[in-house]
Formats: sequence, structure tokens, C-alpha cells
Amino acid sequence: MTVATPAQASIWEPAHAAGLPAYVYDLVGLDAHAAAVREALGDVELYYAVKANPDPELLRALAPHVDGFEVSSGGELAHVRGLFPGVAVALGGPGKTDGELFADVTRLHIESPTELRRLLAPGRPADVLLRVNLDVPIDGASLAMGGGATPFGMDPQGIAECVRLLEKQDVVRLRGVHAHLASGLDAPRLLELAAVVLDYARGLGATEINLGGGMAVSYADPEALFDWRSYGEGLARLRRPGEVLRIEPGRALTVYCGRYVTRVIDVKRVHGELFAVVAGGTHHLRTPATKGHDQPLAGRGRVAGEPVTIVGQLCTPKDVLARDVPVRLEVGDVIEFAMAGAYAWNISHHDFLMHPKPAFHYIREAV
Ligand SMILES: Cc1ncc(COP(=O)(O)O)c(C=O)c1O
Repeated sequence: MTVATPAQASIWEPAHAAGLPAYVYDLVGLDAHAAAVREALGDVELYYAVKANPDPELLRALAPHVDGFEVSSGGELAHVRGLFPGVAVALGGPGKTDGELFADVTRLHIESPTELRRLLAPGRPADVLLRVNLDVPIDGASLAMGGGATPFGMDPQGIAECVRLLEKQDVVRLRGVHAHLASGLDAPRLLELAAVVLDYARGLGATEINLGGGMAVSYADPEALFDWRSYGEGLARLRRPGEVLRIEPGRALTVYCGRYVTRVIDVKRVHGELFAVVAGGTHHLRTPATKGHDQPLAGRGRVAGEPVTIVGQLCTPKDVLARDVPVRLEVGDVIEFAMAGAYAWNISHHDFLMHPKPAFHYIREAV
């Protein structure tokens, strides 16, 4: 699979150095990556979870490779519809407003019996999947949305209540089951969960099953890509004739195409430890602070040096992008952080301290 990984040469053009900090999105790499994922999935439908990164240029690059988009708010829905008016959209997420619940979408993921009662009240047609949260062990996930008491989806009692409500009418159509139990799982673990979800869905007579997203990415080992080939083969083995299987990955599609590029402003030693202060910081790239990891550096040719902690310009000790990185950094050096294409700019607290926003650059041609 062709993706921008740290082993590859810099994708930054020095001519742009004045415009730092910046996000650089490799649309060529994204196109190749999405095509490879699509190919590995065979007949399984692929929706992209827009919450991972809603950048219009990324969505345009993904559109030819996906069957639709998964959105979690009216804002994401309007954004996607504005770009692709006729595209298939699945709307999910807890706490839907009336505007979201009664929006015209391809599939609506129901999160609770109360939500379903509100949907049924006016007697307007809709096509729904019931979101199930099964009580199964979720080992090794970076984020668990299911497998126990969480506000996401319904336990089997909640689902049974919904089925009873739906059986009493024929305006809102029950299309099947949705499950997004966790994020950050490898292919074997996701296949084990898929088998459990499919078993449960078949017990309800469902033939359309959305297995969610959650395919793992590793910030500690950016070269370790999710095994789409074996996942696609595994789903093909699990799928029975007549069943529609769908997935809705976010991070594993877009994380590799983005880099956050910035410049070193200061290098200082405090109580014996070395710090490099860069322009920008976690108000642009909040991911390492949120997830508690070191954002990997990209680009070849760095000279090894004393471990240095790379921090941003914010007045908080949480503004750390990477700790104890064994490279030599000097004032004026341009550095690139890899794996900044998902849950990066769009989850960051942009306005804290009112620093300037980053620039955005798009690589549209193979270099
Ligand atoms: C319902 C749902 N689907 C899909 C995703 C995408 O997950 P990931 O980016 O881990 O693939 C999420 C993420 O939170 C989600 O909540």
C-alpha cells in the first residue's frame, strides 16, 4: 500500500517555509491508499467516518473510493451534502436533535428507544439501523464505545424494545444492525468482534449489518499498517449470501496522508533537560496530548542527538508534541510530524491563546 510514512522522504517543499506552521495533505498518497483499501474489501461497503477529518479536499479524494459517508451531526451532514448532493449518508451518534433525527439520510442509526419513539411520533418514513452495544470483552482498544455500560448504542434489552416498537407500524423501516464497539483494534480482533455482532444480528433476522470503524493505527510504529487484506478476506468468509456488510473507518483511511510541519523557534535547557519550542503546538495538533503519545517525526536525514522534548507555544505543560526524541534540533530547523491526517486539526482547541491558524497545503501530483 502506498502511504506517506516516516521512511519516505520529506513531502515539504522548502519554498513554502514562510507559511509555517502548516498542515500538508498528500492527496496522491490518500488516493492510492483508499484504492488499495477498497480493493481489499471486495463486496463489503465502505463508508468514511467524516469525524476523523472533514477537510473538503480529503473528502473529494476519498469520494471515488467509498460507497458513502458516516456523519455524526447536522453540521457534518450539511458539509457532506454541500460537497456531494446525492451521496449515500449514514447519520449516527447519541443525543440527536429533531433536525438530525428527521434529516433526509440514507440510513439513520438509532441510539435509544426514546430516540426511536421521537422518530416514530410524526409518522415520517425513515430507514434505520439499531445500534447495538454488546457485552463482550474489548481487549487492546484505544477507545471503547461498547462492551459494557457506555452512552453509545443499546444493550440487547433496548434493541428488543425497539424491535417491538417497529413491529407495530410500517412507516419507519428496520434495515438492520449497526455496531461500532471500539477504536484501535487489529484485523484478527475486529474479525472476532464481527463474528459476534453477525451472530447477534442474524438472531434478529437482520441482513444489513454495519460493523463500524476502529481499525488500528500505531503512532509508536507508523509503518505497522492495519491488515486490510486479511480483514477483507475474513469478512468475505463471515458473510452469508444475501447479507450486506458495511464498515465505516475513519483514522485508518486518512491518518497517514497528513503531516504537521513547523519550525523550531527556541532550544533551551531547563534543569538539565533539553526542550525545542516550535511555532504552533497542540492547539493545532492536539492528538498527542489527547491520546498521550509522542507524535512521530517524519522525513529522513535527521542527525541523531541528545533526546529533546518538542513543545509548542502554549502556556501549559500539556503542550507537548513529542518527548525525548533522539535528534539534533536547532533554531530555524523545519520539522514534520507524521500521522497528522486524522483527529488532528479538527479536534484541536484552535483559539486558545489566539495564535495564528496554520496554513493548509495539498499535494495533488506525484513527486
Ligand atoms: C460510530 C462511529 N463510527 C466510526 C468511527 C470511526 O472510528 P475510527 O476513526 O477509529 O475508525 C467512530 C469513531 O469514534 C464512531 O464513533
